[in-house]
Amino acid sequence: MGRLDGRVVVITGAARGQGEQEARLFAAEGARLVLGDVLDEQGEALADELGAGAARYVHLDVTREEDWARAVTAARDAFGHIDGLVNNAGILRFNELVATPLDEFQQVVQVNQVGCFLGIRTVAPEIGAAGGGTIVNTASYTALTGMAYVGAYTATKHAVLGLTRVAAVELAPRGIRVNAICPGAVDTPMSNPDGAAPEELDELYRTLVPLRRAGRPEEVAALALFLTGAESSYITGQPFVIDGGWLAGVKLF
Ligand SMILES: NC(=O)c1ccc[n+]([C@@H]2O[C@H](COP(=O)([O-])OP(=O)(O)OC[C@H]3O[C@@H](n4cnc5c(N)ncnc54)[C@H](O)[C@@H]3O)[C@@H](O)[C@H]2O)c1
Repeated sequence: MGRLDGRVVVITGAARGQGEQEARLFAAEGARLVLGDVLDEQGEALADELGAGAARYVHLDVTREEDWARAVTAARDAFGHIDGLVNNAGILRFNELVATPLDEFQQVVQVNQVGCFLGIRTVAPEIGAAGGGTIVNTASYTALTGMAYVGAYTATKHAVLGLTRVAAVELAPRGIRVNAICPGAVDTPMSNPDGAAPEELDELYRTLVPLRRAGRPEEVAALALFLTGAESSYITGQPFVIDGGWLAGVKLF
C-alpha cells in the first residue's frame, strides 16, 4: 500500500527541481497528480513518463486565476476530486534592496506570494468538498531569517509562512491541514542560476552548512510526503526547516 493511495494532489512548479521529485515520490506512493508549470515541454514529458493513470500536466502559471480554474477542472475531469495541494512554484532574483527595480520586486511577489494565495483560495474549497486534506506551501529558510541580496524573495517567503498560519487556522474546521516547508540550499536549477562550477558550490556549502552539503530535491520531497500523508495528521500551521543545520547556529569551521 502506498502512503498516498486514493489521494489526488495538485503540484505547482512540477516540471523540474523539487516539484519534479515531489511528483515522482507522490506517484510512487499511490497518489494521482495534476502537475502544473509554465515549462510545458518538461511538464508534459514528466506526466507522460508517470502515465495517464497517475498524472496529468496542465499549463498553470500560478499568477493567473484562469489557469488555476483550468487546473481544478482538469483534476476533476481526470480524477474526480482534489484533496491535496503543494504550492511549490517559485522564482528567485538576486539584488541589493536599494538597487531592486519595482517590476522585479513585483514579479517575485506575483509568483511566490500571490501564486500561493491563489492556490489556497482556488483549491481549498475543492479539498473541503472532498472531505478534507492537505496543503503544503514551499517557503524557505528565508521565511525565518534575513539574507542579503534576496530581499524580494525573503519578503515573499515570510509572507508564505504568514499565509500558511492563517490558512491553517481558517481551514482546520474544513478538515484541511496547512504547513510550510522551509528549505535551505537545495541542489536544483534555482540554487545555481549562474552555472557556478559544482566544486565551487560544494566548497561553499561545506563551509556554511553543518551537514557540509546542499540538500537534494528528493530529501525535500520526502518532507512534502510526510506533510501530505496521514503520518502528520495532528500537525498544522507549522514551518518545517530542512537545511542541513544552517539555521541552527553559527558555524566556525
Ligand atoms: N533550491 C533551493 O535552494 C530552494 C531553497 C528554498 C526554497 N526553495 C523553493 O522551492 C521551490 C522549488 O524551487 P526549486 O529549487 O525546485 O527551483 P526550480 O527553479 O528548479 O523549480 C521551480 C519551478 O517553478 C516553476 N515556475 C516558475 N514560475 C512559475 C509560474 N509563474 N507558474 C508556475 N510555475 C512556475 C519553474 O518553471 C520551475 O519548474 C520554490 O518555491 C523555491 O523558492 C528552493
